[in-house]
Amino acid sequence: MNITVINGTEKHGITYRIKEIFLERFRKNSNITEFYLPKDCPAFCLGCTACFTKSESLCKHAEYIRKIEKALLEADLIVFTSPAYVMHATGAMKTLLDHFGYRWMPHRPAKEMFGKRAVILTQCLGAGAKSTAKDIKDSLSWWGISHIKIFTAKLMSNIVWDKLDESKRNRITQKVKKLSEKYGKTDYSKPAKTKLVTKIKFIICRKIQKSILSKNIESADCKYWEQNGWLKNKRPWKN
Ligand SMILES: Cc1cc2nc3c(=O)[nH]c(=O)nc-3n(C[C@H](O)[C@H](O)[C@H](O)COP(=O)(O)O)c2cc1C
Repeated sequence: MNITVINGTEKHGITYRIKEIFLERFRKNSNITEFYLPKDCPAFCLGCTACFTKSESLCKHAEYIRKIEKALLEADLIVFTSPAYVMHATGAMKTLLDHFGYRWMPHRPAKEMFGKRAVILTQCLGAGAKSTAKDIKDSLSWWGISHIKIFTAKLMSNIVWDKLDESKRNRITQKVKKLSEKYGKTDYSKPAKTKLVTKIKFIICRKIQKSILSKNIESADCKYWEQNGWLKNKRPWKN
């Protein structure tokens, strides 16, 4: 199986330790591709909008984005990680997610995303792990992913793994192992079920694209929807 991991920090700190515990059981028999931010996507979106209006290949940072997108599309399981920085995902993570704005459902969502499974791992010292996870979930759900599992931890004592209370360390380890076990037992030959809310979002976006088509407006997004057959009877999900 293929696992693609997007690490919101390059630091080998607590977020890294949590992710390593999660991946431990997959190391022997899975193909794991990891990206570390900001190293693997060091540039901010410049707001040129070329990806939306023309093609993502015109993005000045396409070399980074293409590589990451290929790995995401080939993944059976996608893992995103981030510590909370001022209650949100790291700036490096936001920078990457901005570059994938063109993959949001109102634009050109990838059909492969609809059956995928994703896990988001976040942690904080006291508050913000949930809002951090939500920052990432917002993008993944608008990419079309229905199955998104969030794991959050509050450290409450220290921000260095070896200095955490032993009981805290053990509790986090056990919870992450349990989560990992669940994903180790998943049958990835079957796509994850597409939720009703995802289907409703898709249908609303389809209406917008149909109206653009009826007005004969030149639009890269609309062409994409047409080519996929989504303005007729085809849908990106299998179940
Ligand atoms: C710039 C910065 C901002 C942070 N903001 C928060 C915060 O808003 N809430 C919180 O509970 N912890 C905050 N933290 C602590 C981190 O969420 C995290 O627990 C800590 O950095 C350890 O994670 P790491 O070893 O993976 O970097 C912040 C840390 C940094 C460096």
